[in-house]
Amino acid sequence: MKTVIEPFRTKVVEPIRFISRQDREGVLRKAGFNLFNLKAEDVIIDLLTDSGTSAMSTEQWAQLMRGDESYAGCSSFFRFQEAVSSIFGFEQVIPVHQGRAGERILFSELVKPGQHVLSNTHFDTTRANIENNGARAVDLPERSNREFGGNIDLKAVVRYIDKVGSDSIPLSMITLTNNSAGGQPAALANILEYAAILKKYGIPFFIDAARFAENAWLIKRREHPELTVMEIVRRVFEVADGCLMSAKKDGMANMGGFIAVRSHELCSRLKQNLILTEGFPTYGGLSGRDLECIALGLFEAMDESYLLYREKSTFYLARRLLDAGVPLIDPPGLHAVYLDAGAFLPHLRPQELPGQALVCELYLEAGIRSCEIGTLMFGRTEEDTGEEIAHEVELVRLALPRRVYSQSHYDYVIEAIVNVFERKKDISGMRIVWQPQFLRHFSAQMEPKSEKLHGEAAALGLSGAYDKL
Ligand code: F0G
Repeated sequence: MKTVIEPFRTKVVEPIRFISRQDREGVLRKAGFNLFNLKAEDVIIDLLTDSGTSAMSTEQWAQLMRGDESYAGCSSFFRFQEAVSSIFGFEQVIPVHQGRAGERILFSELVKPGQHVLSNTHFDTTRANIENNGARAVDLPERSNREFGGNIDLKAVVRYIDKVGSDSIPLSMITLTNNSAGGQPAALANILEYAAILKKYGIPFFIDAARFAENAWLIKRREHPELTVMEIVRRVFEVADGCLMSAKKDGMANMGGFIAVRSHELCSRLKQNLILTEGFPTYGGLSGRDLECIALGLFEAMDESYLLYREKSTFYLARRLLDAGVPLIDPPGLHAVYLDAGAFLPHLRPQELPGQALVCELYLEAGIRSCEIGTLMFGRTEEDTGEEIAHEVELVRLALPRRVYSQSHYDYVIEAIVNVFERKKDISGMRIVWQPQFLRHFSAQMEPKSEKLHGEAAALGLSGAYDKL
């Protein structure tokens, strides 16, 4: 059979509420044109993130009942530890409530002011936690590889180490897949060579493993078809000294994460730090039932029929949009399709927030929630001049929750995007009317620059809705 089907059927359903166009208009305005401020029930298709939004399996739900909620030494911890160690090969496993908690703990132990941490691209929270310790988070992506757009630039790595000296690099990382660069994978060859360079310089190597199974799948498809996903995962992680994992992605869990390391000495330091804020080392901020769900979810994420379906559904969405001429990052990774909002809305300058204009338009068109990754997220307003400093790319991420949406949901998304694309010239830019000092995209308030924005809304006689926030 050529048709790839979802390797699961539905046992429980979560109804979608269909909010009218007119009501979408009202709630968007109330939200200050910031989709983080929407109530989830006002969203029809939620593509804000693939993090913590997976549908759990029957086995995971069944496993919840086995959760041992003892404060210390719960049996769920030992099942969790066994699962992590058997997949990743690290003996020491520390649960945390989510990825960034692991980042805070690891970097506050290892990273000192003035030091440098290299990566293909640091995810925002990773960068923030490194910088919070006074160090520099350095991105060295290799930009030229189409199939493995998540590779790290090995020549740049060597140049950088030689420039600052290996003593000032307490650890070096790679993010699999590279979320901040379109969810692109890194090749096995690239990871192994990177590890060898770090070993030569005596620099510990850590992996951000949030999407480790998706990365392994793309290695299988593009580089090593003869290996299983499990074999690829083992080869990747056996060259590392440790990893950080947000289990909200390829852990198939709604919450959780872990740090896993080889060194007993480092582990005992991390545990002392963990106890300060996350909890006792056998639960680390999670309940026993969460540990059970992750222990199983890590294996389910490596299931090759699941990964094939994941690839097919993401590529289906991307291919149909490309066929309609919609600009996007091609090839996509597995967890998201990234629209190129700059090319989608070429009449808007980055300062007019084309990504956010598109995000708002997709919500108005069809109740789809997506996320701007561009000047709203990474640009800034100069305090003295009020000048808006643009980011280098303007993207909109359609992140795809795992095992949640079907092909007809994606057909709906495609229709909406193509409709918007056909009347893109009518879409005007946005301006920021209020913003906080840090991480402005989460809470900034915006408004459209033109009353005539969002063509149909004006036709519905709702243009007055944009008057005041
Ligand atoms: N590393 C990567 C590569 C991530 O994508 C994320 C989260 C984290 C670390 C932090 O993990 O959220 O569990 O604290 N990414 C989410 C996203 C938020 O939408 O891409 P966390």
